[in-house]
Amino acid sequence: MTVTKGIFPVAGLGTRFLPATKAQPKVMLPLVDKPIIHYVVEEAVQSGIEDIIFVTGRGQAAIENYFDLSFELEEFLRTKNKTGELEQLNGISNLINPCYIRQKAAKGLGHAILVARHLVENEPFAVFLGDDVIDSRIPCMRQMLNVYERYHCSVVALQRVERAQTPSYGIVKPRQIDERLFQVLDMVEKPSPEEAPSDLAIIGRYLLTPEIFQELADTAPGKGGEIQLTDALRRLLKRQAVYGFIFEGTRYDTGDKIGFLKATVEFALRRSDIGEDFRAYLKALAL
Ligand code: G1P
Repeated sequence: MTVTKGIFPVAGLGTRFLPATKAQPKVMLPLVDKPIIHYVVEEAVQSGIEDIIFVTGRGQAAIENYFDLSFELEEFLRTKNKTGELEQLNGISNLINPCYIRQKAAKGLGHAILVARHLVENEPFAVFLGDDVIDSRIPCMRQMLNVYERYHCSVVALQRVERAQTPSYGIVKPRQIDERLFQVLDMVEKPSPEEAPSDLAIIGRYLLTPEIFQELADTAPGKGGEIQLTDALRRLLKRQAVYGFIFEGTRYDTGDKIGFLKATVEFALRRSDIGEDFRAYLKALAL
């Protein structure tokens, strides 16, 4: 079955990024001149996923406005003959078929996905966490779809992390299949380095079979009192195989201040319009 739907749980309060996130969604912070969420949506579209379900919270209308037409702005650009900017804006509002649904309470990632259950029903679907921006030759989700198309099972994106970092991630117990592919035998949400079953962390991309919804519905609150997707996947893997895939590419954790700055600097350096000047500036600064 083709995967056409992507869930973007974006209702998080962005507490790691206060005060910038006091009055705007975290995923709307820009990397150079594009909001973080735009990069993640582009990965979805380039992977063939255009039906995007944003699970939002209160105060996140900016996301909805961003992917909509901006009548006044476009009219203004038209009267000023600014065709380049106009095309850019049109491109954004035509990028996806968006759908917005509210997660009324901050009850965790698993709960956010469950909120979208009736919009997905019996189809496999993708999940994109807005904090993780992945730069790769082949879009990360496309790489995961290749695994899904072969095994027809849920797939989580994996990355090796330092042992000290395991308390920030879902960590899998793997059985290696080939260089980048693993069957997940077990997983644990945010374990201490001593408890972690490996150094393979789940990164914010998931391809899930629809059976996950029932598991989510049956999952009790876990770490932090929240409904954890990791716990539901742990239940699922007793019924169906779940695979983990070490994607090819670089992941930036833009939910973290240093990760955000690294992404900003690297993306700016790659730009054809400002990259050269910015490089010269950084070189001068480093002296
Ligand atoms: C969530 C998941 C965690 C996963 C991580 C990836 O945690 O609960 O299993 O490893 O995303 O970014 P969060 O970062 O929302 O605390």
